Amino acid sequence: MWSHLLFSTFMFYLLLSSGLDLSASDQSVIHSEFNELAVFEKRHSDNFADEEDLKLIEPYLIPEGHRMKAALDAIFSKGGVLKSPEAMKTAGFKLLLYRTGRGLVVAKHPLLKNYLVKTYLDSATHVDWTSWVRRAKGARLVQACIDAKPRSAQYTKVPQKWIYHIPLEARGKIKDGNLPREFLLLVEDMRLVSKEKNEELYKTFFSEKSLQALYYVVNKSGYSDCHIGNLPFSTDGKIAFIDTEYTNIWPVHPQWLTKWFSPKRQVYWEKLF
Ligand SMILES: Nc1ncnc2c1ncn2[C@@H]1O[C@H](COP(=O)(O)OP(=O)(O)O)[C@@H](O)[C@H]1O
Ligand SMILES: [Mg+2]
Repeated sequence: MWSHLLFSTFMFYLLLSSGLDLSASDQSVIHSEFNELAVFEKRHSDNFADEEDLKLIEPYLIPEGHRMKAALDAIFSKGGVLKSPEAMKTAGFKLLLYRTGRGLVVAKHPLLKNYLVKTYLDSATHVDWTSWVRRAKGARLVQACIDAKPRSAQYTKVPQKWIYHIPLEARGKIKDGNLPREFLLLVEDMRLVSKEKNEELYKTFFSEKSLQALYYVVNKSGYSDCHIGNLPFSTDGKIAFIDTEYTNIWPVHPQWLTKWFSPKRQVYWEKLF
């Protein structure tokens, strides 16, 4: 039994490290990788990405042949799109979320059917591509975990994520210490239910099997930021792993979810960890 378990665990990590360039078993590697990205954040706080950065970004760039690549090129054929929320609206975006402060925007566009854009505005002053790399990489890891146990796909899903390199001519101007955006993140739209509906579904919709699947994927992928807002229901009844920035990190925190389940399911959930 143990040797079988060890072998499948080994094979699983082998699959991750070969196919996805991830070694989920080695936390020290993970943490040094995070530190490495943090160094890039610091070094490039006032500059566009250089060749060394692009090597890290490249595996997650939207492929030339992807139908959303042409759509993004069309949207960014004009400059100034990310200048302000109004400029984004003029370019055809509908803003679903706009957080003042760093200026995070989640938006949809009629040319980007079934996808959403996650971006900061040109007025931001921080490097964001390190976060996009983590998210795109994390999404692949979660997908690999779902694929590793076929039943998980019945209950869980994760958006595909791609980084888009905004053409140089379309980028904003450096002014007053800002860092015009150079990249944005394209994510598959998970068609989420409302916050209220989500809380209702957490109380009523879970079965033991779906709880098992949820726990399995959270734990296997090291989905450490596992609060209810990062694991919402989609309209198709699956739990969407939408926020993949902090994956591959243990411990995970399944106890953050406990209070959202019905009393009976709470007992079952806690037995799983
Ligand atoms: N793939 C997606 N499909 C649908 N909505 C999404 C998706 N990704 C993000 N969102 C929306 O944007 C919000 C913030 O996204 P999230 O990835 O959790 O970022 P943050 O790091 O800011 O928490 C979510 O709460 C959700 O409303
Ligand atoms: Mg989140």
